[in-house]
Amino acid sequence: MAKQIDILKILKNNLQITEIQPLKENLSQIEAYVYALPPEENEILYLIDNEEVVSIKRDFLINEIKQILASHTLERARYYLQRLLKALSEEKTTAFNDLNLNRWKEYDDILTDSLWLFDKRDTSGVHSADYWGNFIPQIPHQLIRRYTKPGEWVLDTFAGSGTTLLECKRLGRNSLGIELQAEVAQTIEKLIQSQVSDNQAVKSHIIQADALELNYQETCNTLKIKQIALAIVHPPYWDIIKFSDQPADLSNAVSLTDFLAKMGKLADKIAEILPKNRYMALVISDKYEKGEWIPLGFYTMQTILTKKFKLKSIVVKNFEDTKGKMNQKELWRYRALAGGFYVFKHEYIFLFQKK
Ligand SMILES: C[S@@+](CC[C@H](N)C(=O)[O-])C[C@H]1O[C@@H](n2cnc3c(N)ncnc32)[C@H](O)[C@@H]1O
Repeated sequence: MAKQIDILKILKNNLQITEIQPLKENLSQIEAYVYALPPEENEILYLIDNEEVVSIKRDFLINEIKQILASHTLERARYYLQRLLKALSEEKTTAFNDLNLNRWKEYDDILTDSLWLFDKRDTSGVHSADYWGNFIPQIPHQLIRRYTKPGEWVLDTFAGSGTTLLECKRLGRNSLGIELQAEVAQTIEKLIQSQVSDNQAVKSHIIQADALELNYQETCNTLKIKQIALAIVHPPYWDIIKFSDQPADLSNAVSLTDFLAKMGKLADKIAEILPKNRYMALVISDKYEKGEWIPLGFYTMQTILTKKFKLKSIVVKNFEDTKGKMNQKELWRYRALAGGFYVFKHEYIFLFQKK
């Protein structure tokens, strides 16, 4: 068994050393210590000044130590050493998430590029792909981690099968979901109960309502929600999938103009409750109709940009065979070849920030 060492103390002591070779020798102790630990120990525990035990990812620590050991000059080695010390002992976060920027290299699972390619959906927990028109859990997962802190509230105005709410529960965030169809909302309620969470205080509320007519402020007051930190908006892609016969259902919007006017109204409503600088994510795709590509995503983005939001990013996400498209794959390929167009393989995540 590896003998426990005080990583921080070793690093701090080395700041005083004036020659590179002894510095490297001392640091090899940490490297040797980590290598002696069982390989399945991905998190290395260490003590910080107030005797609190914290953890750091094994690969991150090893890479940082290797970088110091590869330094040719004392100045370089010290620079990397100071950076590692800072990563281990100081926290630097933004106002909208809890990612420690001093340890940004550790977050290799957080996406920062505008092209998201997922080869399969995350089926862990109680997530299921059964609801036609749901999104993969990785979408809300990425958004929640980038744009909220634990304990904050996430609003999903088109909750569907509750993917966002389930992901919130797993990540220790509170959630408020709105869904028009009563039976769909009831299913979410049951699913949420069966999803385990490390944080017993986490709250999840699902409300059966028309997202365009709900009084959000009143709802927040009733549920004692002080502030919504992030809004995730995954509407029907107009009439691509008909979700219900209800006239209020956005998939029954009578025209493109009607759909966009409704999305504009929703953006106004969200702007009323979302604090300045907080984020709203719109997940949407384009549609194809009568031999013409309708850029539904960009039309909706334009509508929202006339409201109190500015655009921060456009993410393109691959769109593999969904429940709906699976059987039609060959038919669509034939149609594309015959009709001179390309088959949809992507959707958009538009990131807006409240002005
Ligand atoms: C694209 S799905 C959302 C799927 C969800 N993200 C998931 O992963 O399951 C859109 C949902 O919006 C609901 N919906 C349609 N019009 C609505 C409205 N006016 N208010 C609230 N929900 C609505 C539909 O019933 C459908 O469940």
